[in-house]
Amino acid sequence: METFRRIYWPAINLVGPGAVKEIGVEIKKLGLRKLLLVTDKVLRAVGVVARVTDVLDKEGINYVIFDEVKPNPTTRNVNDGLQVFQEFECDGILSVGGGSPQDAAKAIGILYTNGGDITQYEGIGKSQNKSVPIIAVNTTAGTASEVTINYVITDEARKIKMVIVDPNSLATVAVNDPELMLNKPAGLTAATGMDALTHAIEAYITKGAFRLSDTLALEAIKLIGESLETAVKDGSNLEARSKMTWASYIAGLSFSNCGLGIVHSMAHQLGSEYDLPHGVANALLLPFVEEFNSVVCPEKFRSIAIALGRNVETLTLEEARQEAITALKEMAENLQIPKLAATPFNSGDIDRLAEQAFTDVCTSGNPREVTVDDIKEIYRRAYELEAVEEANAG
Ligand SMILES: [Fe+2]
Repeated sequence: METFRRIYWPAINLVGPGAVKEIGVEIKKLGLRKLLLVTDKVLRAVGVVARVTDVLDKEGINYVIFDEVKPNPTTRNVNDGLQVFQEFECDGILSVGGGSPQDAAKAIGILYTNGGDITQYEGIGKSQNKSVPIIAVNTTAGTASEVTINYVITDEARKIKMVIVDPNSLATVAVNDPELMLNKPAGLTAATGMDALTHAIEAYITKGAFRLSDTLALEAIKLIGESLETAVKDGSNLEARSKMTWASYIAGLSFSNCGLGIVHSMAHQLGSEYDLPHGVANALLLPFVEEFNSVVCPEKFRSIAIALGRNVETLTLEEARQEAITALKEMAENLQIPKLAATPFNSGDIDRLAEQAFTDVCTSGNPREVTVDDIKEIYRRAYELEAVEEANAG
C-alpha cells in the first residue's frame, strides 16, 4: 500500500507552444502590481526576454528587469536582486531562464519574505514563510527548476554549492513554451537534456520513489530517448523541442517529489569547484554512478533500457542492466559530452570532493548505500578510464 504523501507542484502550469502568451492572464488573476523580472544578460541579448516583455507591455503589466544573474548564481547575485526588488517595491517575481535565473528568483523570494541571509536556509525546509508569487518562465529543457522545490546557490565565501530544498520556494505559475527553446546552441541543448535524463533516472531509482514518480520518470526517459539527439542536431525542430519540454517538465515533477541520488551529489562538486555546467557534470558521471547503483535494482535498469529504445527481450536481467549502462554511455558520446579528463578536473582534489559529495543533500536518496570511499572510486573510474581512452585516442 502506498503511504501518505505530500505532493508539491505549481498551482498553475502552462505547457506547450504559445504558453508564454498566456502569462498576462495569470499575473492579473494573482493581482500583482509590479514584477521583478529576473534573468541573465545572454537571454536579454538574444531576444528571449523581449518575447516575454512584449506580452507584459501588451497587457499593461509593470516590471523592472534584473539581468545580473550569472551561471551558477551566487549569494551576491541574490542579494543584488533582493535590493532591486525592495527599491522598486515589487510584489512578485517573473523569472525568465534556465536553472540559474530560476534558482536566483527562488532565493530572492525567500529572502524577501523571511529576511536574513540565504546561507541560513541551506538544507531542508528551513524557511517559515512562503515566497512572494513567482511566475517561472523556463527557457531550457533541463533543470526543471520552474516546477521543483529545490534550488542551488553558490556560496562564494565557502566556495560550495548550497542545495536548498524548500516547498516555500515553489513557483505559483510554471511556464514551459518550446518556442522559447528553438535554436538554442547544440552544446547547451545536449547538456541541459542530459540533466533532464539524470533527473528522470535518479528519480526512478531513488529510495523515495513511488508509483506516481515512477510513471512520470519512465515517461520522461522515453521522451528523451526519442527526441534529445534530434533536438541537438536540428535546433529548430519544434516537435523534438516540444518532447524535450514535456520530458524536462515531468521529470521535474517526479524528482521534486521523491528525490535524487549521488550523480547530483558528485556533479554539484564539479560545478562549484571547476564551474562545469551542471548538465555536463551530470552527463559525464551518470554511466559510472549507475554502473555502481544498478546492481541493487537491475529490474529498474531493464525498464530504463526498454524506455531508451533497446531491445532486451532475449537478454538476461544482468545483460539488460548492462545494456542500459551502454545506452547511457552511447548517448553521452553521440551528444559529444566532454570526458571528465578533458575538463579542468584535478584528480588530486578527489578526497575533498568525495567528502563534500557525501554530505550533499541528494546523497540520502541514493538507492545503494554509499561510503566516501565508494564516491572516491567512482570519481577515479570516471577520470582514469577516460584518461586512458584519451591517451589511446591520441
Ligand atoms: Fe539537475
